[in-house]
Amino acid sequence: MRALVVFAHPCEESFSAALKDVVVGRLAARGWQVDLCDLYAEGFDPVLTAEERRAYHDIPGNTAPVAAHVDRLRAAEALIFVYPTWNFGFPAILKGYIDRVFLPGVSFVLKDGLVAPGLRHIRKLAVVTSYGATPFRAWAAGNPPKRYVTRVLRYISRPDRLRYLALYDMNRANDARRRAFLARVAAEMDRL
Ligand SMILES: Cc1cc2nc3c(=O)[nH]c(=O)nc-3n(C[C@H](O)[C@H](O)[C@H](O)COP(=O)(O)O)c2cc1C
Repeated sequence: MRALVVFAHPCEESFSAALKDVVVGRLAARGWQVDLCDLYAEGFDPVLTAEERRAYHDIPGNTAPVAAHVDRLRAAEALIFVYPTWNFGFPAILKGYIDRVFLPGVSFVLKDGLVAPGLRHIRKLAVVTSYGATPFRAWAAGNPPKRYVTRVLRYISRPDRLRYLALYDMNRANDARRRAFLARVAAEMDRL
């Protein structure tokens, strides 16, 4: 199984980085071929330019500015995002990755102006994230990133397996809760 792990956090000492290491380590231990896309480390530019916007619907030329990332995404059978939840959304670098790489003709196609799935090659989809907020506060805020993953990404990929793994209430989490979540993520990766 070929997995693309998209990771978005600027600090190597972060909890998110520890989660990323668990994800990559466990999938590799299963014999999966893991492509780690560390957006900060790779210096990914998240800004969609005027030229890219104008060519957004020009299939296949629209992929030219991010061709290598599109190839990596197309090669994947499993897609795993690891990031901290910021302002009840994705870190800007990850939002920009999705804006620039999840293009028409790549992640979806428009048929008579309506979105049809383009990521059917993704058989397993997972998100590993953390929130400062409690589950209730995230729910009260509408939890936009969770909805994007479980509704939009699910629709355009139709995976056999989808896992949304979140540690809430990080602002009050002690070592035991953090360790338990790392163990849960490890177990989930073993059976993804
Ligand atoms: C810029 C920024 C914005 C944040 N916004 C939110 C938020 O909207 N909701 C939330 O639950 N936590 C928020 N947090 C808390 C992060 O989710 C928390 O710091 C993170 O999950 C901890 O993981 P880390 O140690 O890997 O950074 C925010 C943190 C930062 C730095």
